[in-house]
Amino acid sequence: MPALGLGTWLADPGKVHQAARHALEAGYLHIDCAAIYGNEEEVGQGIAEAIEAGDITRDELFVTSKLWNDSHKPEHVRPAIEKTLDDLGLEQLDLYLIHWPIAFRHGVEFPQSREDYLTLEEAPLEETWKAMMELKEAGLTKHIGVSNMGPERLQALAEVGEMPAVVQVECHPHLQQRELLDFCNEHDILLTAYSPLGSPGRQHKAGDEPPLLDHPTITSIADELDATSAQVLIAWAMARDTVVIPKSTNPGRIEENFGALDVELTDEHMAEIAKLDKGYRYLDGEFFADEKSPYEASKIWV
Ligand code: A2P
Repeated sequence: MPALGLGTWLADPGKVHQAARHALEAGYLHIDCAAIYGNEEEVGQGIAEAIEAGDITRDELFVTSKLWNDSHKPEHVRPAIEKTLDDLGLEQLDLYLIHWPIAFRHGVEFPQSREDYLTLEEAPLEETWKAMMELKEAGLTKHIGVSNMGPERLQALAEVGEMPAVVQVECHPHLQQRELLDFCNEHDILLTAYSPLGSPGRQHKAGDEPPLLDHPTITSIADELDATSAQVLIAWAMARDTVVIPKSTNPGRIEENFGALDVELTDEHMAEIAKLDKGYRYLDGEFFADEKSPYEASKIWV
């Protein structure tokens, strides 16, 4: 799995087609998608054009997508990947993830009331996982994994079949995920870091940490290496052997982020950045754990 990929969350459908096309021309070999991002058709157009232009072959490219929360019931899993494959214009994914350990009634994009949710008793993740394993057997995806989960859930899934190959979680210097990373290293799981720049494009909330891109430790390392803050954050993720998927639809920033592959941090830099951990989530899951939800924020990432 290529260590650096293009993220596509909050990538406007009007822009992401060119962004994907540009990234593949610039050398990216990996794109991270999801059905709920509402832009897979446009990403697919960018991929098709890059293949057509000879910038990349399908075999060189690694494409990830994710199963939305409304399709956890086993009978909805295969139709969901088929829709994603159709939108992306692909015959097979490289990786398919369960997006969240949270279930909705079929057809619900974002819940409006308690009735829109299913509990994990009503839609057990283990049953969803068995249906994911069937997708792999059917050749619709090469690998399967999960997102927004921790060691407890990974272990529970392994008990009904195989261990997820990948776990994708928010990860950056303020949320270093050490316990999960240790678990992953022990069990041969790859950790993919989302929001590696601290997700500056998301909706801000009261009491947010200041943007990571402006953190003095990061900017001073960037100055020293003649790199940018974004490149330092991306290089830090790769230096820890995690996979990293910064999102951008801006051609200059897409190239800048790719340039992180040439940025080498020293042990001293790594030690400095290690001190920034504060278990802080920019994306705290509150949107799935408000008063109408049967889920509790503190139990999402276990
Ligand atoms: P844009 O798409 O306009 O470039 P994350 O991956 O942590 O969620 O961060 C994505 C956000 O960071 C997007 O808003 C993106 O905006 C912005 N971004 C991506 N690359 C850079 C960069 N190199 N410098 C500054 N901001 C960036």
